[in-house]
Amino acid sequence: EKERTLAIVKPDGVSGNYTSSIRKIILDSGFNIQREVTLHLDEDSVRRFYAEHSTKSFYPRLVKYMTSGPVLIMILQKVNAIADWRALIGPTDAQKARMTHPDSIRAMCGEDIEQNCVHGSDSVESAAREISFFFTEPSPEGTTPEH
Ligand code: CMP
Repeated sequence: EKERTLAIVKPDGVSGNYTSSIRKIILDSGFNIQREVTLHLDEDSVRRFYAEHSTKSFYPRLVKYMTSGPVLIMILQKVNAIADWRALIGPTDAQKARMTHPDSIRAMCGEDIEQNCVHGSDSVESAAREISFFFTEPSPEGTTPEH
């Protein structure tokens, strides 16, 4: 059964010109890029997207970071997409990633635990929430939208 996850190339990844290498890794790893959009997120969107972190000390810096430039947002699809994309990006802390997962995407393009270059959904529930946060889907064929 195919699964979908949300991937984001964060502002440091886009401005550092990592999107083509990241796209190549994604396609070479057997993911289908189902949808993609480049957006410069505003503060309100970032605050809502990361609402679960609103009480953390790093939240203001996270908002500043994620609004600092355009991001590339993608829906990735394949069997086991959520776990496989998390494995490819590596640990949250890019400095640790360089020590323990040198082949990971964060080891390649991340700076530290805050500026870590890419995002991946961490569960089926967050993948569904995050995908619908950025993408509206056409209603399935044969169903009538409710009014
Ligand atoms: P991500 O896991 O994609 O989503 C939450 C983001 O908050 C994380 O990437 C980092 O960019 C940022 N962040 C900053 N500090 C921390 C921290 N101590 N733990 C987890 N995430 C952090």
